[in-house]
Amino acid sequence: MNIKIKTASEVAKMRSAGACAAKVLDMIGPYVKAGVSTLELNDICHDYILSMAAIPAPLNYRGFPKSICTSPNYVVCHGIPTANKLLKNGDILNIDITVIKDGYHGDTSKMFMIGTPSSKAKHLVSTTQECLYLGIQQVKPGNSLRDIAKVIQQHAEKVGYSVVREYCGHGIGKSFHEDPQVLHYVDDSFDDNNKVKLLPGMVFTIEPMINEGQAKIKLKSDNWTVVTSDHKLSAQWEHTILVTETGYEVLTLREEENIDQAFP
Ligand code: MF3
Ligand code: CO
Ligand code: CO
Repeated sequence: MNIKIKTASEVAKMRSAGACAAKVLDMIGPYVKAGVSTLELNDICHDYILSMAAIPAPLNYRGFPKSICTSPNYVVCHGIPTANKLLKNGDILNIDITVIKDGYHGDTSKMFMIGTPSSKAKHLVSTTQECLYLGIQQVKPGNSLRDIAKVIQQHAEKVGYSVVREYCGHGIGKSFHEDPQVLHYVDDSFDDNNKVKLLPGMVFTIEPMINEGQAKIKLKSDNWTVVTSDHKLSAQWEHTILVTETGYEVLTLREEENIDQAFP
């Protein structure tokens, strides 16, 4: 494992990359409405990212064909924007934005609700955001990755939801995906990883994928789109986090958010 500790000048660049990714999620909000296609959302984000002198990291990343990921309803992650998917009333949608700015990555995603989703869908979405915030609150020097995983898993499972196993958070910096892997469930056979102690200057994402039904997922034949095996709903929220001397700094924070105040 090679966990890079970022220097002060790298942190400054990651702060600016993170802010840029967060701005894309703010910008796209008003467009996320019934009748719009996920391809239109992709194109708007693509142009906006270029206008900030940044690069959409997903485009051509390991062959990914578009600039953002759009994952509606039972799509867990890595959904490919398409002209065929028109948003409709009641849908939930994850939009995942990763930008490269001045050589460094910022990675963040949020759930959007189209019209009025069912109360079941809304509960899954808000519980998943709570999982992210509880995980973030565990970030401080001396705590371990296991501490993050544990609170996320407990919060999801206590209401009967399940945590996706196959995809996890990740270190981030000059590369999109760096060490360590940030699991969202406790796996004590993954001991080296669990024991990683957080140190100031580490930067990683936390991005829980929480399913309404079973944890099991399937990969579609496009080799990207991940769906729930039971076709029940899935939700995900993601932030890029810096470990500071005293705790955390959310590099992709949006104005509407107040993470310290969640679950006081
Ligand atoms: N943004 C995703 C993550 O959180 C990765 C997307 S990879 C892509 O790690 F190729 F699908 F864009
Ligand atoms: Co990520
Ligand atoms: Co992401």
